[in-house]
Amino acid sequence: MKLLVTGANGFLAQHVCLYLLNKGHQVLGISRGPARLPFVDRMEYVSLDLSDAEAVKNLAPAMGKPDAILHLAAMSKPDECLRDPAASRLHNIEATAHLLEKAAAWEAYFLYSSTDFIFGEGGPHSESDTPDPLNFYGACKWEAENLVRNSGVRQGIFRPVFIYGPVWPGLRGSFIQWVADSLRAGKTIQVVNDQWRTPTFVGDLCWGIHQLLTHQIQDCFHLAGKDVLTPYQMACTTAEVLGLPTSLILAVDSHTFPEPVRRAKKSGLQIQKAMDALGYAPHDFTAGVKASFGQP
Ligand SMILES: NC(=O)c1ccc[n+]([C@@H]2O[C@H](COP(=O)([O-])OP(=O)(O)OC[C@H]3O[C@@H](n4cnc5c(N)ncnc54)[C@H](OP(=O)(O)O)[C@@H]3O)[C@@H](O)[C@H]2O)c1
Repeated sequence: MKLLVTGANGFLAQHVCLYLLNKGHQVLGISRGPARLPFVDRMEYVSLDLSDAEAVKNLAPAMGKPDAILHLAAMSKPDECLRDPAASRLHNIEATAHLLEKAAAWEAYFLYSSTDFIFGEGGPHSESDTPDPLNFYGACKWEAENLVRNSGVRQGIFRPVFIYGPVWPGLRGSFIQWVADSLRAGKTIQVVNDQWRTPTFVGDLCWGIHQLLTHQIQDCFHLAGKDVLTPYQMACTTAEVLGLPTSLILAVDSHTFPEPVRRAKKSGLQIQKAMDALGYAPHDFTAGVKASFGQP
């Protein structure tokens, strides 16, 4: 397939681009800045701001018309979205609208990455739960989902949670990398133990995305991990896998880090639908951490 992947410099997109290239697909990556993918010589890359309607309209890939667009670009930090709501709307909603017009013109399948942040309390949530975003980032992602759903293009949506996985130069770190680096440096870390998530191993997510792209499935799926864990529990598992001291990890509650952004205590996503319909079979968290650090 010829595949266009947006936000190509981002954590998920770098992993997905590599996965798709290794499956033999042609990939065009689009991101705002210069390419940071270490394997960029294997793909086409265009530096473009998706909020620029004219630039998106004039996009003419060297590889030709893509069969599918995988839209991963986002302003993905909830605190930044709250600080600059206009920018959040621009990059999360308007950019999606411009890209949908292009998908319609190309008659391409459109796959959108949403988030568990579209839900409020009461997780882990299923696909049939009612969205109730607690913060502006979640509200923008929900609005963008609805643009996708009502666009008239062939479309699918998936929702991951708290993505983790291997890190390489040019890729931003993930939570487990921060835990490993801190403990290796002998630093004590305080980690929240009153928020529950279903962390997603990026390799499982790449597998699920590839299924959706290959079969151009027009539905919404939760693609997350199977364990419901607090960040403190994730940090302890990471330490145990790497043989680092758990005594340096202090459990705290979320009041220790007061933040303006509201986050659900009980979030996370149920994955039964993806397991039944796609054969999605994610790693458990311990296995995902081992795979992230190259352990058997
Ligand atoms: N990470 C998670 O735990 C998580 C959980 C649930 C859902 N998600 C969703 O999954 C997707 C990927 O997340 P991620 O964490 O991998 O993202 P990320 O690392 O923050 O990367 C997003 C990328 O989007 C690009 N971008 C932003 N605005 C753009 C624009 N206007 N034009 C072109 N490129 C733009 C940026 O490119 P430059 O760096 O080149 O500026 C950035 O590298 C997002 O849709 C996010 O909402 C992520």
